[in-house]
Amino acid sequence: MQLQGKKIILGVTGSIAAYKAAYLLRGLIKQGAEVQVVMTPYAKEFISPLTLSSLSGKPALNSFFVASDGQWNSHVDLGLWANLMVIAPATAATIGKMANGICDNLLITTYLSAKCPVMVAPAMDLDMFQHPSTKRNIELLRSYGNLIIEPASGELASGLIGKGRMQEPDTIISKIIDFFAEKKKLLNRTYLVTAGPTHEKIDPVRYIGNYSSGKMGFAIAEHLANLGAKVILVTGPVAIQCRNSNINRIDVVLAVEMLEKCLKHFEACNGAIMVAAVADFAPIITETKKIKRTSGNYFIELRPNPDIAASLGKIKLDNQILVGFALETDDEELNAIAKMEKKNLDFIVLNSLRDSGSGFQYDTNRIKILDKNGIVQAFDLKQKSEVAVDIVNKLIEMEGGITERF
Ligand code: CTP
Repeated sequence: MQLQGKKIILGVTGSIAAYKAAYLLRGLIKQGAEVQVVMTPYAKEFISPLTLSSLSGKPALNSFFVASDGQWNSHVDLGLWANLMVIAPATAATIGKMANGICDNLLITTYLSAKCPVMVAPAMDLDMFQHPSTKRNIELLRSYGNLIIEPASGELASGLIGKGRMQEPDTIISKIIDFFAEKKKLLNRTYLVTAGPTHEKIDPVRYIGNYSSGKMGFAIAEHLANLGAKVILVTGPVAIQCRNSNINRIDVVLAVEMLEKCLKHFEACNGAIMVAAVADFAPIITETKKIKRTSGNYFIELRPNPDIAASLGKIKLDNQILVGFALETDDEELNAIAKMEKKNLDFIVLNSLRDSGSGFQYDTNRIKILDKNGIVQAFDLKQKSEVAVDIVNKLIEMEGGITERF
């Protein structure tokens, strides 16, 4: 009974693989989970709601309301109730609606209301799976933090052979069990993460800043929180939201404010990951009135900002891990190693501005990790959510195995 006490929404859509949802549901119940089935209207053409309600012990919901008695199915309550939402099988149509927020059935409104993690097990014909539209929609779901259970290759309902078959129910169940086990991996641990740019004020309407979007820092914060850690995320001005309630987001604008918040919280943390692109300089004077255009040149005198990573490096204890980033254009590894040593980091994540698809604003990143023991690891170009997993895995490895130490 490895899913005892877990509340799972099982979303079922109109695919021939819907019959496998019955096996999946039975397996989840056998593992002790409480399961609420939500079906799309077309799913009912493939499997009877009666089959699924009999197995789950709850009505298999499939519409916003029941016209005969006026009963209303609240997608908001469902979204708050669940610890996990699993959509299996997920058709190309449902994936497209999820990716684009087209809420024309109870399953999609529940998905948009869900506060919990979401797993998606696609099922479709190989050509549909390979279509750029499906690929883009699946990438969008990944960028929302949803976990995709890759379909298997094999014989499809069409008679064609290729990738698109929903994973077997037993495989999905073991992924769900692993997911809940992972969620406890960093329980009782706290990490500080900095993200985004800082904006150094010139006057009431202008600032010095940079192109950092905050995506990499937020992806790391989300992954740490998904593993059960508490995260203190000190972020500069960005246009993104946190999803996991384990993240305590602290918004700042200036580098000196970021430093102050980091110094306040670092002592109580097991480690810190410094992802922010902190402005290196700030105007000595911030004008209180908007600077007027003049015909001559205008000079702004700048002073260096504090180095936040180096400040934490000076006070860090042996059992605290400090991780930095380096964005370099030349002599990349040498510069990164010099930064790691200067700031007393345990490891440094290097991204090169020479790599296409890597760095500011992109959803992808190609990194190298260099650690203080001289180990260098190079990774492929990946989604920032996957890069976050590689970085957190390195953090866990450098901590020498959480369970042995704590
Ligand atoms: N960093 C920081 N505070 C600063 C500058 C950088 O905490 N004032 C952190 C970054 O978050 C990153 C690491 O230090 O983890 C390296 O940042 P980077 O901008 O590459 O290095 P700098 O020390 O600013 O050196 P330079 O810009 O000259 O390459």
